[in-house]
Amino acid sequence: MKTIAHYSQLVMPDHLNNVGTLFGGQMISWMDIAAAKTSYRFLRGTGAWGAVTRAIDQVEFKEPVFGGEWVTFTGTVLDAGKTSIRVKVEAHAESRNENMRIACTAIITMVAVKEDSPGNFVKFPHGKIVD
Ligand SMILES: CC(C)(COP(=O)(O)OP(=O)(O)OC[C@H]1O[C@@H](n2cnc3c(N)ncnc32)[C@H](O)[C@@H]1OP(=O)(O)O)[C@@H](O)C(=O)NCCC(=O)NCCS
Repeated sequence: MKTIAHYSQLVMPDHLNNVGTLFGGQMISWMDIAAAKTSYRFLRGTGAWGAVTRAIDQVEFKEPVFGGEWVTFTGTVLDAGKTSIRVKVEAHAESRNENMRIACTAIITMVAVKEDSPGNFVKFPHGKIVD
């Protein structure tokens, strides 16, 4: 079964750019957190401390998002290597009057890490496969 995680954010005034829509860098930050949550769930029980972001690819801003809307992020593990986890993240925006619409997509590669000495994290073979 695929590992999936969800995460939601309300778009507040501080999140907007100069044209009054959600700032792209803010969107990517939230996409990254969604990938982190997805990999955290995937890594449960492996001995990994967590995962760090190695690459963010194929980012597409498909629709603008406006203040006051909710954005829900869905992370899905596509596949996993020795230490890496490739996560597809989709952001759906939701206004009061419309159905959910796809606002942003990306492929984010996370790498499992473990602390080898205080404050020093190194990549960690997670030993998991994706069905
Ligand atoms: C993550 C990190 C520990 C990996 O160490 P590294 O020596 O670069 O490791 P590797 O080059 O072997 O890459 C690790 C894995 O990522 C994959 N990878 C490397 N570059 C990649 C890229 N551009 N795109 C996708 N996957 C990539 C490798 O194929 C490897 O996968 P595998 O172990 O499943 O086969 C190190 O690169 C690092 O600390 N990067 C900074 C992370 C960071 O600060 N992120 C932002 C904050 S979360």
